[in-house]
Amino acid sequence: MSEGAGSGFLNAFSQTKVGNDTIFSWWARYQEAVSEGHDAVNGTIGALLEDSGELAINSIVDKVVRESPPVEISAYAPLKGLPAFLDLSITLALGDMREELESIGMNVTSTASPGGSGALFLAAANFADRGDKVLLRDRHWGPYDGFLSGCNLGIATYPLLPSGEITDSYLDINSLKESLSDLCSSQSKVMSWLNDPAHNPTGLSLTEQDRYDFLKCFIDSSLEHQDVSHTLLIDAAYHLYADQPHGWADTICQLLHDGISWPDNLLVTFALSLSKSHTIYGLRTGALVSIHPDKQVTDRIATVMGVTGRQTWSATSRLAQYSVSHIHGDEELANLWDDERERLELILGERRELFIKECGKLKVPINPTHDGFFAWMESEDPVHVANECAKLQVYLVPLTGGVRIGLCAIPTDKIQRVAKALSQALS
Ligand SMILES: Cc1ncc(COP(=O)(O)O)c(C=O)c1O
Repeated sequence: MSEGAGSGFLNAFSQTKVGNDTIFSWWARYQEAVSEGHDAVNGTIGALLEDSGELAINSIVDKVVRESPPVEISAYAPLKGLPAFLDLSITLALGDMREELESIGMNVTSTASPGGSGALFLAAANFADRGDKVLLRDRHWGPYDGFLSGCNLGIATYPLLPSGEITDSYLDINSLKESLSDLCSSQSKVMSWLNDPAHNPTGLSLTEQDRYDFLKCFIDSSLEHQDVSHTLLIDAAYHLYADQPHGWADTICQLLHDGISWPDNLLVTFALSLSKSHTIYGLRTGALVSIHPDKQVTDRIATVMGVTGRQTWSATSRLAQYSVSHIHGDEELANLWDDERERLELILGERRELFIKECGKLKVPINPTHDGFFAWMESEDPVHVANECAKLQVYLVPLTGGVRIGLCAIPTDKIQRVAKALSQALS
């Protein structure tokens, strides 16, 4: 099919949309290999699979969803979300620090969204001026580009890791400061998206000190550029599989305890996804949780996000909102959910530990990787590396600047084969 086909019907922006998603096309190659009878390894997809290759499903969530009353399945949810779910989403974003943050005068508002993707869309549509650039790390989840360009937003990037000497830090603070300052000199609103902890595609999690320095950099910039509004979006798509799931709420508390007063022109917002944490990828549920000291600001954000949702997808799935609220409102069910979540986190931890060990033995230069679903190897020719691995029936995903290794999908007993394939591809 020619890419020009249908152009008479499509507007100029739509004509820029091309092709199959890289991740899905490499997954299709894996499936083709299996159908040809190969003993292929699937490191392509971004869903957590059991060692058997079946989708990992949190059985408590599945049970509660199935036993939900008919009206919770059929009825619309309120446009901004079910009240119990909105309350829960704030706790899921902030963890134990929620109470403390609220007690020291921070106001929090939440809007339900179709997955983390919906929350990212709400932020893109409302927290940046059309034509402006949003600040990202150079390695980031590919769909960010589409969410942003769909809202007529560009991208500015800074490096994922500091260059030069190896230190304990995973943050290139000087590049961050420079990029932020550049944007402040040309825009009246600056927004940055940060997928932390458990970054997709690398599995990187910032350290406690990195988080402190990062947020301090935003506070300093907000104070220095009082006429520029700053929005820091924490994409928490994988945070409940991380060692420090609520590190960002801890960091906010820590800075406030250090006597730093919150600038009026700084907003922190969390894009929450229940897809992975509750294994309900297909039920499309998440939330945008925003925190600011001024209640008038958070109230206004609640209205704007509700209206944006109404004008885009109407309301978010009621069934998932009801089910997870029901689970977390019942101590016994919540504990059972958490046992299952922990089991899945341990599977990820075991695969990651083994992968790091095997790559270390074979001198495969993978990136630092700590939590979540993925690991990453930088490469100047990622397609070549992925093709070489595919010759050995190991399927990974070549992305901009490197190869993504979907630890979430690779059975533990196949991890060694993946490290070997990478090693051979490099030789
Ligand atoms: C980094 C990142 N952010 C957000 C999402 C959104 O997920 P969903 O829309 O399925 O909740 C994903 C899903 O893969 C992701 O990897």
